[in-house]
Amino acid sequence: MCSRYSICYAVCIAVGLSVCTVAGARDRSGVEIYNDICSSCHENGDFAAPKLNDFAAWKPRLATGKRALYQSAFKGLGDNMPARNEYESHLSDREIYDAVNFMVKKAEQYSSDTDLVASSRH
Ligand code: HEC
Repeated sequence: MCSRYSICYAVCIAVGLSVCTVAGARDRSGVEIYNDICSSCHENGDFAAPKLNDFAAWKPRLATGKRALYQSAFKGLGDNMPARNEYESHLSDREIYDAVNFMVKKAEQYSSDTDLVASSRH
């Protein structure tokens, strides 16, 4: 609906960001969503959220498969993991997938880092 992103952005500011995101501004990347929204719990483990750098916390979750993890991000999980419609900011399907993909990739990276550290000790 906006010919140029900068113009779109100006309109968004004028009419309010929620209107803008519903109107379909560009999808944010997984890392942007993580930093803006998910990190508030997953960075430090608030509300007992699995921390991104805690591979042990992720391992059994990763074993359930990505589909299950996407479902948790769409529908929420337990008492403290919010469903996507509980956020003030509208999250598109793509943004949910990308945020989960980003988190999974990071968690896996921490796994190989630990393996590297472990193997370098031998
Ligand atoms: C208010 C805190 C909070 C926020 C914000 C939050 N999470 Fe979570 N998340 C949790 C908690 C707590 C759990 C563990 C829930 C459980 O196992 O009962 C969790 C678990 C998860 C899991 C694992 C699900 C599973 O099936 O094991 C994924 C994936 C996840 N969150 C993704 C996200 C994404 C993506 C975002 C941002 C869009 C996000 N979370 C934002 C608290 C949060």
